[in-house]
Amino acid sequence: MEFRISEVAATAARLQRDGDDPVCAYLYDLTALRRHVDRIVSSLPANCEMFYAVKANAERPLLAELAGRVHGFEVASGGEIAWVREQFPEAPLLFGGPGKLDSELQLALEQGVELIHVESLGELRRLARLLEQGDRRQPILLRMNLAPPSLPRTTLTMGGGPTPFGIDPAELPACLDLIASQPRLVLRGFHFHLVSHQLDAAAHLALLADYFAQLRAWQTEFGLACEEINVGGGIGINYREPQRQFDWDAFSSGLGELIEREGLQRLRVRFECGRYLTAPCGYYLMEVLDLKRNHGQWFAVCRGGTHHFRTPAAQGHSHPFVRLPGRAGGATVRNARISVVGQLCTPKDMLARDVEVDEIAVGDRLLFSLAGAYAWNISHQQFLRHPAPLVHYLDDTEAA
Ligand SMILES: Cc1ncc(COP(=O)(O)O)c(C=O)c1O
Repeated sequence: MEFRISEVAATAARLQRDGDDPVCAYLYDLTALRRHVDRIVSSLPANCEMFYAVKANAERPLLAELAGRVHGFEVASGGEIAWVREQFPEAPLLFGGPGKLDSELQLALEQGVELIHVESLGELRRLARLLEQGDRRQPILLRMNLAPPSLPRTTLTMGGGPTPFGIDPAELPACLDLIASQPRLVLRGFHFHLVSHQLDAAAHLALLADYFAQLRAWQTEFGLACEEINVGGGIGINYREPQRQFDWDAFSSGLGELIEREGLQRLRVRFECGRYLTAPCGYYLMEVLDLKRNHGQWFAVCRGGTHHFRTPAAQGHSHPFVRLPGRAGGATVRNARISVVGQLCTPKDMLARDVEVDEIAVGDRLLFSLAGAYAWNISHQQFLRHPAPLVHYLDDTEAA
């Protein structure tokens, strides 16, 4: 992962200079995004494809960079189908996620979604009924909720026990019977997305090895010939220790070895990662408005807050940031522990708790990194009706 802090900091300084009010903004480094995604996609084994889970961040310029670099997009609502189709009429789409409406399934059929990831027997029945009305055959994967021995306990687990996601393996025979009775449902294989926030490359490889073993077992048991397995997304970003990220190189080379060892070179293996692709290119910028000591603790009250950047509150971490010295002459605190808060009237509006700073001053800019996924788009923007942050895109190719 590449962080071009000096380029981002220069833009942050310009945004502060240009504004009348203290600054708060999202900055997205499209140059870094391109490099990151190209590196990931080019290191995948030949039979693997990377899709982007649009829910992580669907800002147009990010999607425009990703289109053509990734193999396609994973969408999880009718809104995402429409949003992506409007911009990329030809991009391969995978439609997953729970609670699909009939109208969304119909839209997926009309928009030529390549694969529908079916979440339940009920959804399969509804899709079968919709297909009866036309002459289209629809390829599908069944999303299964497995409990493999290697399932890691991350902070966000979508399977391995009672959850609303995927199909209980006990229902697989009933799903296969239904598919056998409706020739317009074309079963291409299985889908698994059991965890997010996976930081351990070896553990992720072990999980994939279990998926492959299960696929083989079902193929034998039910006489299936699967072309494809989707191993989901879920590769994490280490917010707590940003220097220790998921070891992508070890993972991609280990995956190549696993595929060879298992003789799976002819199976299409698809990923649908969100966070790991776009989190590193995004930054949230706040300006320090006030420094105050309250019952023995220091607080930096900043422009913006969790209504723009809910990630640290949602994940319960202190988000990493760098301090960029700002307008000179502001009140200053040195060698202190301080909590960084926003403008909301709630103690939950905290972005970093009790962190050590050498120096911090009113007018400084705080630049929060790793803010490109599940950040602005998951925030409760209307609370207190503060304005939206500025949004700025850095792109070296434009300057050239
Ligand atoms: C089915 C499915 N696929 C992919 C993703 C993307 O996950 P991540 O952003 O952790 O890679 C999610 C996230 O919730 C998901 O539910």
